[in-house]
Amino acid sequence: MHPTQANRRALYSDNALKLGLFGANCSSGRAVTLVPERWSGSWQDNLRLARMADEAGFEFMLPVGRWKGYGGDTDYQGETLETITWAAGLLAATQRLTVFGTVHAPMFHPLIAAKQFVTADHIGSGRFGLNIVCGWNADEFTMFGADLRDHDARYEHAEEWLNAIKRAWGPEEDWDFDGQYIQLKKVRAKPKPMGGGRPIVMNAGASPAGKSFAMRNCDALFSMAPKGKLTEFADHVAGVKAQAPNLDVYTVAVITCRPTSAEAEAYFRHCAVDNADWAAVDSIMAMRGDTRERWPDDFEERRQHQALGMGGVPVTGDPDTVARELADIAAAGARGIALSMVNYADELPFFCDEVLPRLKRLGLRG
Ligand SMILES: Cc1cc2nc3c(=O)[nH]c(=O)nc-3n(C[C@H](O)[C@H](O)[C@H](O)COP(=O)(O)O)c2cc1C
Repeated sequence: MHPTQANRRALYSDNALKLGLFGANCSSGRAVTLVPERWSGSWQDNLRLARMADEAGFEFMLPVGRWKGYGGDTDYQGETLETITWAAGLLAATQRLTVFGTVHAPMFHPLIAAKQFVTADHIGSGRFGLNIVCGWNADEFTMFGADLRDHDARYEHAEEWLNAIKRAWGPEEDWDFDGQYIQLKKVRAKPKPMGGGRPIVMNAGASPAGKSFAMRNCDALFSMAPKGKLTEFADHVAGVKAQAPNLDVYTVAVITCRPTSAEAEAYFRHCAVDNADWAAVDSIMAMRGDTRERWPDDFEERRQHQALGMGGVPVTGDPDTVARELADIAAAGARGIALSMVNYADELPFFCDEVLPRLKRLGLRG
């Protein structure tokens, strides 16, 4: 399909509900678990997975931008493939998937980043997407010898950074950029993105500054849809759409799908309770300032929630249950859902055989 801006935004498919895979570039993916079959995050496994997802008609792969493991018994996400080079490799090996880079704006010079994105976009004939991260974990910045700016200033910087990149993607030549954070002189940046448009841009800000950044600058906003709070999520989507009608809202789900709901629930418990990497969970919670004092009413619930899926909504059950719950998330306004599984490549074939046809029958996918 031609890389028009509309096709890029539709992730090159007509499906009402877009599906992607989230976090496969990291060891253990999004499951903070000790089980031996947990995801390796190796390049070979990523390649195998991306080809499988591409064949099955998934729309996208979204990596996690993380530079340092979270510790615990598994050093959770201790091995991560750098996301722009990861995307470039996967784009070369696939036909249809949009592959995102998840890029920390403060860490990459905008002109190097702009050219890396264009290179990946050419490799994928217009299928590269950009997920902008402004900074979440202070320890990563310390490791780089950099300071994490004050929260809202991170988004001011990111807006300048993205404006510089969008200009580098555009037709001008020899332009200067004189921002508060970024100064550039007589810029030339060629080639341009495929097809005269630009890669789609997403962000997952949750704060007022983060959400308004997305509304002003992005094509897609990723927001969590907590279990049992779909009405709140629907209100959130309606609020976003009222202010930014062209901004698509996506969310994140953790899939445990087995032939029966009892099997699925047992496996979920096995991974996320009996064999969770609790030391890593506690390190993540501490890093985010999520203490028992801060959340006296639901600290244990939050801790549990972190263990399987890092806050993504758990969708656990037989294929009927999983399809129905995904359809409910779509009905609440999600344009797409980024999925994770304990072992993506082992679990994807069953999901494709059983859940995709049900989503088709529900009119959500062709
Ligand atoms: C789906 C999703 C993906 C995210 N991916 C990353 C990531 O890969 N790396 C990272 O440092 N932060 C990531 N974040 C954090 C967000 O970019 C953001 O900082 C966080 O949601 C807090 O919002 P705020 O920055 O507006 O306070 C992600 C958040 C969500 C919900």
